[in-house]
Amino acid sequence: MTILDGKKTSNDIKNEITSIVDEMKANGEKVPHLAAVIVGNDGASLTYVGSKVRACERVGFESTMVRMPNTTSETELLREIKKLNDNPEIDGFIVQLPLPKQIDTQKVLMAVDPDKDVDGFHPTNFGRMALDMSTFIPATPFGILELLDRYDVQTKGKHTVVIGRSHIVGRPMSILMGRKGFPGNSTVTLTHSHTKNITQITSQADIIITALGVPGFLKAEMVKDGAVIIDVGITRVPDESRERGYYITGDVDFENVSKKVSHITPVPGGVGPMTIAMLLKNTLLARERHRE
Ligand code: GUN
Repeated sequence: MTILDGKKTSNDIKNEITSIVDEMKANGEKVPHLAAVIVGNDGASLTYVGSKVRACERVGFESTMVRMPNTTSETELLREIKKLNDNPEIDGFIVQLPLPKQIDTQKVLMAVDPDKDVDGFHPTNFGRMALDMSTFIPATPFGILELLDRYDVQTKGKHTVVIGRSHIVGRPMSILMGRKGFPGNSTVTLTHSHTKNITQITSQADIIITALGVPGFLKAEMVKDGAVIIDVGITRVPDESRERGYYITGDVDFENVSKKVSHITPVPGGVGPMTIAMLLKNTLLARERHRE
């Protein structure tokens, strides 16, 4: 059984990016600049954005964090996005989700310049992804592809079952795994809350990608021997005995499932760190495109 080590792999990727940035600096070129907009005080979102900003520093990127209060109106947020779109210093930016309920998320994502949309959430980029055109691939699915690639996990002709149809993970993942090329060429089943007999489906899967946010959802009896398991779930479970007051767990009953599979991602230290590395990769790509 192989643990797909996202922490190590993401560090490898960050080292590769650092070398490229060092070269840019040596040539007197502008380095990539990522901005992140965060609205409100959600603890998990603040942690994620903090990690993204720290990752920028680690690889030598410029970064800007834009913090806005929970009471921010849609108009105010759209004005901030326009500023970032128009600012030539900024190569790419993200608006951390979820947004407070007075703001229409779809409208906000539509307002981001597709050339700066390093999250790959704009309909133009999502459509380009679905049509196999060069684009920004959403960071979490991109990170999963990269992990499968670097560990040489075969996907061609395999049956991939995706659990959860979120716009950020499940939906794009289902498209990417079925695309031509590697990693892809898979036969994909996308399951969700209305799926019947899910065990019957997951137990036929060669690869399972679960992005549900339900701790311990995927149990050993739902998985066939030798399957590949990608756990995208990140849930904070309150636990007073821990210093932080919570611990992080995934969608997979790791202890029992790991005994029968060929590859599995841990939580934490699997897909999570890969997401950040691939956001950096998209930002580097944005800089390279803007230079051309
Ligand atoms: N919230 C959860 N995941 C993500 C992500 O990848 N990007 C943004 N912008 N918000 C998120």
